[in-house]
Amino acid sequence: MNVFINKNIPEAGIVLLREKGIKLTINPTENVLSRDEFIKICQENDALLNVGTNNFDEDFFQQCPNLKGIALFSVGFDAVNISSANSRKIPVGNTPDVLSRATSDIAFLLMQSVARKSFYNHKKIINGEWGSFNPLANLGQELYGKTLGIFGLGRIGFEMAQKCKAAFGMNIIYHNRSHNENAENELNTELVDFETLLAKSDVLSVHSNYTEENNELFNKSAFAKMKPSSIFINTARGKFHNEDDLFHALTNNIIWGAGLDVTNPEPMKKDNPLLSLPNCCILPHIGSATYEARNAMAVCAAQNIIALFENKKMPFCVNE
Ligand code: DGY
Repeated sequence: MNVFINKNIPEAGIVLLREKGIKLTINPTENVLSRDEFIKICQENDALLNVGTNNFDEDFFQQCPNLKGIALFSVGFDAVNISSANSRKIPVGNTPDVLSRATSDIAFLLMQSVARKSFYNHKKIINGEWGSFNPLANLGQELYGKTLGIFGLGRIGFEMAQKCKAAFGMNIIYHNRSHNENAENELNTELVDFETLLAKSDVLSVHSNYTEENNELFNKSAFAKMKPSSIFINTARGKFHNEDDLFHALTNNIIWGAGLDVTNPEPMKKDNPLLSLPNCCILPHIGSATYEARNAMAVCAAQNIIALFENKKMPFCVNE
């Protein structure tokens, strides 16, 4: 079996694949291939281990009729048209669980950075703006006993909630399609409707899988229902929020601050107005960027490819 890997991944995954005698073609550059280049190489291979944001739409599947499977190097699978994959019986694998800690760490870090304005104050030092001690300047918020609203209480949301409860004794509420009984028992959390989540959260953190029905769910009308003291955190997908509406909310005291590890598009342009705001902290999609998580992701992705090679069900398969 010939497998194309469109960007180099940690050695832990490569070793497993080579041990099985799987023939690998690894894109040797950091460059993102054009759509045409990408499709051409996929046509020449049996399977793909994909890093990053290629779009697996109906057109892709039509153009790559011989592809037998896709192993994503991510937990999110929003880039794949699952019904197109299903209609061709193409398994799609992801890397669940192994990045939940790392990603929730980044949500937690953003929450604190925004609450205490740490990144903004760091920027001030770099700009030579560290003035004399001022009892009225640089004031942030304490999070003790406040309410954390989780949009999408799955594995990553659960880890975020656990940390916030342990560190700050935060009350947890969440919005999901259905109850997460395990979380309700362990975190004493309550399922609420979307409007209640908006109205009651002091910190609202997005952890759901992105689907088109949630496109720009966090828009002008949603921000208007949040508390003026609230903090919006998004470490899931940039398409969950409308960027202009977020800018408006942050500059008109509609919400207090925002922390983003994801934007739309990515990379964000360096002149994006959100970057100039004192109450918005932005990171370049580094949720899973730890040695531990990335090594484990490489192993999961390799295990998915190996299962395909051995005619077995992928261990981390998102479709049937
Ligand atoms: C994920 O695993 O989905 C991360 O966001 C990287 O894409």
